[in-house]
Amino acid sequence: MNLFQAHISISVTTYFSSLEIVSLNSTNDAIERICGVKNFFERQSELNEINKLISKKRNSISETERAEYGDFQTNRNLSDATCNLLKQQLISPKIIIEPTCGKGNFIISSLKTFKSITHIYGIEIYKPYIWETKFAVLDFFLNNTEYCIPKIKIIHYNIFDFDFNYIAKKHQNDEFLIIGNPPWVTNSKLSVLNSNNFPKKSNFKKHKGLDAITGKGNFDIAEYISLNIFEIFSNLKGTFSFLIKNSVAKNILKEQKRKHYKISNIKQFNIDAKKEFNVSVNASLFTCTLGNKSDFSLSEHDFYTSKHIRNYGWVNDKFVFDIKQYQNTKSYEGKFSYEWRQGIKHDLSKIMELERVNGHFINNKQEIVKIENELVFGLLKSSDLKGKKVNKTRKFTIITQKKIGQETKYIRTQYPKTYKYLLNNVVLFNNRKSSIYKGKPLFSIFGIGDYSFKPYKVAISGMYKTTTFSIVLPNNKKPIMLDDTCYLIGFDSLIEAEITQFLLNKEKTQAFIRSIAFTDAKRMITKELLMRIDLNEIINNTAYKELEIGIGAISEIDWINYRENLAQKTFNRNQQLDLFETMHYPQQKI
Ligand SMILES: C[S@@+](CC[C@H](N)C(=O)[O-])C[C@H]1O[C@@H](n2cnc3c(N)ncnc32)[C@H](O)[C@@H]1O
Repeated sequence: MNLFQAHISISVTTYFSSLEIVSLNSTNDAIERICGVKNFFERQSELNEINKLISKKRNSISETERAEYGDFQTNRNLSDATCNLLKQQLISPKIIIEPTCGKGNFIISSLKTFKSITHIYGIEIYKPYIWETKFAVLDFFLNNTEYCIPKIKIIHYNIFDFDFNYIAKKHQNDEFLIIGNPPWVTNSKLSVLNSNNFPKKSNFKKHKGLDAITGKGNFDIAEYISLNIFEIFSNLKGTFSFLIKNSVAKNILKEQKRKHYKISNIKQFNIDAKKEFNVSVNASLFTCTLGNKSDFSLSEHDFYTSKHIRNYGWVNDKFVFDIKQYQNTKSYEGKFSYEWRQGIKHDLSKIMELERVNGHFINNKQEIVKIENELVFGLLKSSDLKGKKVNKTRKFTIITQKKIGQETKYIRTQYPKTYKYLLNNVVLFNNRKSSIYKGKPLFSIFGIGDYSFKPYKVAISGMYKTTTFSIVLPNNKKPIMLDDTCYLIGFDSLIEAEITQFLLNKEKTQAFIRSIAFTDAKRMITKELLMRIDLNEIINNTAYKELEIGIGAISEIDWINYRENLAQKTFNRNQQLDLFETMHYPQQKI
């Protein structure tokens, strides 16, 4: 802290914070008793200065303390621009609700923009912001005496306990504008912060079992608040307009399929969050009309130019990234004939990943590792999947099992050096956080099966923004493994892998994938997405000539065999599905 152009240390600041400052004399006496300096403050005005600074400090909570409130105040330019954008949609709201109003910029911008307002409700948990908002409103009317004065309530309350039904009922025949920028924080971040700032009903999307515990049960507080607002206000007349992360907008739209809220004319206006909030996240203004009908897709625009980008959302029961592109390629929507697999998961790269340096293996702790070669396989990560064919690896990994859950005691007798190395690091294995390793044999890995040992693989990275597929070839006659950021199918023959790669990399297949892959997702390519590609349909649209040009070394027999194989696979799969259905839903005897 600085005062009178001098730096004040933390202990001095803390001392002044705890000091009861009554008068100049008594304060100076107290300080003299502590440090001997006489008349520390010469004038009352000096004492007032430190008093002012300390009380300001008391009221300002540190960044980490505010983290649980997802506090990113909207600047006035952005709130003004938002209201102007809404005004162009010819709305004339009477009731404004700002559910987490912060310093009140949306309230002031609404006052400036909409002459129709009769009531304003702002709710906020942080008391100093309540004052900021009240003073801002007072300042606004002192300087703008010509404006009509609505009834304004700025309420110091926790939004999760606030009863919006009361406001909805009271103004049920009026036009609402629910506007704001709810907290930018997820429930998992709140649990790291040990915070209670989330709704009591956290599993509000009704995820079951593992989904509730893992990622799918994770949600943004802004998502909860938005859905809660729709729950109460979507049958009334009005407009909803929130600044939210794009991932929240996407989740709202996904949830809309289940909820059928009366929200329509849904739009997303992308903002530059770095410029507006100094955060690197994709965010936007999400707007929709309340009370008319239920829409299931939205149109995405640039906030600053209004330029249309694309439409995304539901097309019947499919959630797609680009509706126009999807309409042109949707015949490729189906069920993939092979099973896409995720690569190896071990959660212990320090020990399990090796590099070859000067003829030795070294691990990620930079230790030389002297073990048998048999369990060591080349390893590719997402970043290594570049180009059409890959047959070399920077990294290697130890494969302890042939299938999930397999006993690993054999390593001790067959590969004693490997066993010793693993055992030396057993504590690290046992400390792996994920619950999947609990109760499993020592040194267990996941993402392993017959498919991992197939010599030829068609693979794609889940993490990169590319949609092209590579072929992975064996190295020194040993199959190459992929890590769990990649997806793969294993093949016994090279030509089968090559044909599959060709079909997947065809322009129309690629366009289909791009129409369903969300480029802003952390994992753009997922197993779920890959399983949606209908290989049979692609084959039906592919002439042998194309393969001849694309692959070169292929005969018509290869093509016929491939198609027959695939047809057989599809037949087997469908029969399995039929069997499954008869077992679970036996036909009623008439
Ligand atoms: C992203 S900021 C936006 C503030 C304001 N809406 C704006 O646009 O400038 C989120 C606000 O939510 C408030 N907040 C967080 N948790 C809250 C809760 N449980 N109840 C009410 N307000 C809350 C924070 O204090 C913060 O002011």
